[in-house]
Amino acid sequence: MKDKTFVKKTREFSKNLHIEFIKKLLVFEKLDSTNGTAKDLARAGAEEGTIIIAQKQSRGRGRFDRMWQSPEGGVYLSLILRPHVSTQNASLLPFIAALAVAKTIDSYGLYPTIKWPNDVRVNRKKIAGILLESEMDSQTISYVVVGIGVNLNVDIKDLSEDIRSKSTSISNEIGRLIDYFEFLTTLLVQFEEYYKLLFESNYGQIINEWKKQSDTIGKKIQIETASEIIEGIACGIDEAGFLMVRTNDGLIKKIASGDCVYFDELQHA
Ligand code: BTN
Repeated sequence: MKDKTFVKKTREFSKNLHIEFIKKLLVFEKLDSTNGTAKDLARAGAEEGTIIIAQKQSRGRGRFDRMWQSPEGGVYLSLILRPHVSTQNASLLPFIAALAVAKTIDSYGLYPTIKWPNDVRVNRKKIAGILLESEMDSQTISYVVVGIGVNLNVDIKDLSEDIRSKSTSISNEIGRLIDYFEFLTTLLVQFEEYYKLLFESNYGQIINEWKKQSDTIGKKIQIETASEIIEGIACGIDEAGFLMVRTNDGLIKKIASGDCVYFDELQHA
């Protein structure tokens, strides 16, 4: 798709998109980062349900200050949310986003798994990433930006060599190009479905569905948090989205966030 065509086509697509929580869709040929633009707009008062989409990003952001390589062919979007839920319940948003992405990929006949908290992988290779950035205090949520990047029709050769062997794309897995707008519609419909569960206080369902889609529970893992490296067996997720890890000394540690690696993959790395 040529740049102009992408913007024009996405605008046309948005006119026929009837998804309740989406209020506005802004589309760009190229941005530094859709999350960066979404945060600027959120701070300036953009309403809940504003979506920022770009065809490419020059400085796509990943978790832990990593880059998210964003060549043409991928889906790069950020949702601005202002959910009226407690900050504790908002911590389920990464799970909601991962579920929406995984279910969408699943609908193409692939078998995506989620690595805690929200890496979506196919055949142990990363196919999508999610980055949440928010402004909130202990009581009130000002905004949450949910950034989603999916290697949809990305040619793996367009990714740098260091991540090529750990990455895949949907087109690479199925052997054909996927319709961008069909994928986007399914993704947004799925997101809305899981987002609704949050307002219906259906936290158990979110966690249970996440667990079914994830391959983390039961695995020997190593997690690097801001303050320590924890090793043990992932043994559950609580209702606030904390990962429970049984460490070698038999203690259960609850982890809010960190970089998770599976032991069996560490040894092969
Ligand atoms: C990760 O797995 O490290 C998270 C990657 C998140 C990438 C997406 S692409 C759209 C949005 N804008 C960004 O700059 N990052 C997220």
